[in-house]
Amino acid sequence: MDMTVPAGAPPFELFSWDVWRDPYPFFATLREQYPIYRHPITPFWIISRYDDVNEIVTHPEVYSSRFPGNFDRTLNGTDAPEHTAIRRRLSPLASRQSVAALKAAVERHVDRLIDDFAGSGRCEFVSEFAQPLPFRVMAEWLGLDQSLYDTCVAEVFPFLMAEPLLDGQGEPLVDQEALEHRYVALLNGEISAFDETGRSGVLPDLLKPAGDMPPLDQETVAQLAKILLFAGHKTSACALANSIWLLLGNPDILDALRQDISLVPSFVEESFRLESPVQSLFRITTAETELAGLAIPPFSFIRPMVGAANRDKERFQDADEIRLDRKEKNHLGLGLGPHLCLGAHLARMIVSVSLTGLISRLQDLQTDTPLDQVERIRSPNFRGIKQLPITFGAI
Ligand code: HEM
Repeated sequence: MDMTVPAGAPPFELFSWDVWRDPYPFFATLREQYPIYRHPITPFWIISRYDDVNEIVTHPEVYSSRFPGNFDRTLNGTDAPEHTAIRRRLSPLASRQSVAALKAAVERHVDRLIDDFAGSGRCEFVSEFAQPLPFRVMAEWLGLDQSLYDTCVAEVFPFLMAEPLLDGQGEPLVDQEALEHRYVALLNGEISAFDETGRSGVLPDLLKPAGDMPPLDQETVAQLAKILLFAGHKTSACALANSIWLLLGNPDILDALRQDISLVPSFVEESFRLESPVQSLFRITTAETELAGLAIPPFSFIRPMVGAANRDKERFQDADEIRLDRKEKNHLGLGLGPHLCLGAHLARMIVSVSLTGLISRLQDLQTDTPLDQVERIRSPNFRGIKQLPITFGAI
């Protein structure tokens, strides 16, 4: 059976807003009928089953990250051996141990943000918590000034990697190159001033030697700052809003967490799996290859759909349900293989500490907005929420 361009197949609207508002029925059709789908309009091969996505991300020699137009050329857009070398330099700075040292600071940021709205009984969760919290943590971790928030979060991040939707209702077209240039210039300004400001954190550390590894030059550090700040902020902000959205729709799960707050990390894994902030990855084939018995030519653009693979019933029992006692490991919400999320420990900590603080301090969480009508980010790359007004009582 040729599953690539099936005769009579619907021209899947990969970038249609109707699909991305609730992509899961579309993903189920893809997995069941067209698991390796050569999209008729774009150059993408869309891969939706867990085993196939897993095969791709764990075989970088065939499925390269060095695809044309990659936003990053320093880390996520590289392959071995450059990728291995830079991960070796960065990994200790994002290890479980390094991240644990940040926990008290994260708890402090969480508490301060909750203090600001707890008394009023309501807040717009995205702008008052989900956006500022991870920025504060990322800035502190990297050694950047908190005053970058407004420019980054309001002016730059919504448009970076925003792939305009083909139905014409997507994010407005912007001059990506000019935007990126401005963002990197801002980061370069910060890095140049480190001697003066005396900041500490990951970026100042990268400018110094570490063991047998020499210091990185400023341009490389600025490029790394570009991806670290954006990758860490955008995804964590999406994850926080998605998690609260899931809890609002599943009061029994929220009750279970209230009864036993130690279950929060298990819920966080389910949130990353079910409502994956990163919905799709990008790879390019280096040679002719075979996936699930199908030939794929060299230099094909591959789009492994994390959001679809994470709900694959062949891999996860009750795949569409939150299961706090789930046994199956290795969801793909943080990737897998050599490009596994560098910030995985940090991401888990940010979301777990936040949910622990929110659940412990706020009761009777509600929203007036029907959950299927919340305003979502219009992007096929990221799953997140633009606005989520909530009400609560303070404990
Ligand atoms: C819930 C939050 C997060 C999610 C869902 C997420 C998801 C992902 C995914 C799916 C990948 C794999 C990309 C690929 O295979 O091409 C990835 C890579 C990456 N993530 Fe995260 N991420 C999160 C938080 C963070 C944080 C807090 C940081 C900050 C350090 C971070 C930094 C990175 C970097 C630098 C990469 C590229 C790693 C590489 O290519 O070697 N992420 N992330």
